[in-house]
Order: sequence, then C-alpha cells, then structure tokens
Amino acid sequence: MSKNEKEEAIKNIIEDIAGCKPCRELPDVGNIPVFPRGNPLAAAMLVGEGPGEQEERQQKPFVGAAGKLLTETLTNMGYDVNRDFYITNIVKYRSYKALPGSRKKNKPPTIRQINVEHDFLEREIAAVKPKLITALGAKASQWFLGKDFKLTKERGKFYNWHGITILPTFHPAAVIRAKAVGEEERIREFRDDLGKIREVIKPSIAA
Ligand code: URA
Repeated sequence: MSKNEKEEAIKNIIEDIAGCKPCRELPDVGNIPVFPRGNPLAAAMLVGEGPGEQEERQQKPFVGAAGKLLTETLTNMGYDVNRDFYITNIVKYRSYKALPGSRKKNKPPTIRQINVEHDFLEREIAAVKPKLITALGAKASQWFLGKDFKLTKERGKFYNWHGITILPTFHPAAVIRAKAVGEEERIREFRDDLGKIREVIKPSIAA
C-alpha cells in the first residue's frame, strides 16, 4: 500500500468505528468511540486491551495514567510515541461495570465484544503492515498468541504472527498496580521488554 492508500484505509476504519451500531448495543459497553492515534506509516504498533475512562473522554487510546507510564518509558528510550508508533486497542469502545450512582469501573472486554469489534484491529494491521506489534497485557497478548499464552512466563520475547513480530509485555496499568504494592521489579521488567523494540525499530529521535 502507498502512503496515501494507508492513510485512506485508516480514515475508512475510523469512520466505521464511529458508525458501528452493534458495538454500542452490547451490554456494559460505552457509546463513545475511541479512535487510534499515532502514525499509520509507523513500522511499530502498540496494542492494548480497550479504552478506560480518560481514553473515552479524550477519544484517544492510552492517554490516562497507564498511557502516561507507557509514553514516559518509550520517550526515555528516544521514541517519539506519536511518530514512531501507531497506537490502538483490541476494542474501541469502553467496557465497564456500572457502580451505584453513575460511576463506572473499567472491565476487560468480553469475548462477545471482541467478536463484534475484532475486524477493526485486523483491518488496521493490514493497512499499517507493521514490522513489530507490542501487545500490552494478557488480553492483547492472547489475542495474537492464543488463549493459553501465559504472560508472566512468556512475555518479553519475540513471536511470529502471520509474518509480523509480536512482543508481549505487561499492561502498563498492571505495572502501576504492582509498583503500588512494592513490586518494583515489574517496572524493570516492563522497561526491559520495551527495550527490545530497539532490536527491530530504532527510535526516530535518537537515530
Ligand atoms: N488500557 C488499555 O488497554 N488501553 C487504553 O487505551 C488505555 C488503557
């Protein structure tokens, strides 16, 4: 695909995400689409599970606390996150559990939601054609590597998925939770895993 074709393909996907009626009709799923961000021409993709509250508010992935940690970690390695990566999630609508009042708690997307939405991610990957996809967290890793994939044991290595290199690592939100209970090694492991991106794609700032 040429540069224009890639950009056009992503534009069409974004329109389809915005207009997806079945996506909003599922129980416990928000009705505000969260669109991909970053560079459709990048050689690397970051794929998370699904948007949270902040992402829904700004309609962009990884802009809350987890996104801040992810961005800081990659920026410290010399990456310009919005230029060097195309950033998206498995699902584009927020999955939540309703709490008393009008509060909502994020919850992982159900298989049903993933089945309704997975076509978007497949189309994004086909358009971007990245060399490397970093899968953030167990759900995203299992989407690529199968439901038996064990993140804790098998993360931080390269896997092949239809000719694309997959690098599974912790979800940054899990790193924040681990840090809060004194599990400092998790942040080091997360940094080490993300450091492996450099073996495939060099940071544009440091290059
Ligand atoms: N967690 C995700 O998986 N994706 C986001 O965009 C934000 C938090």
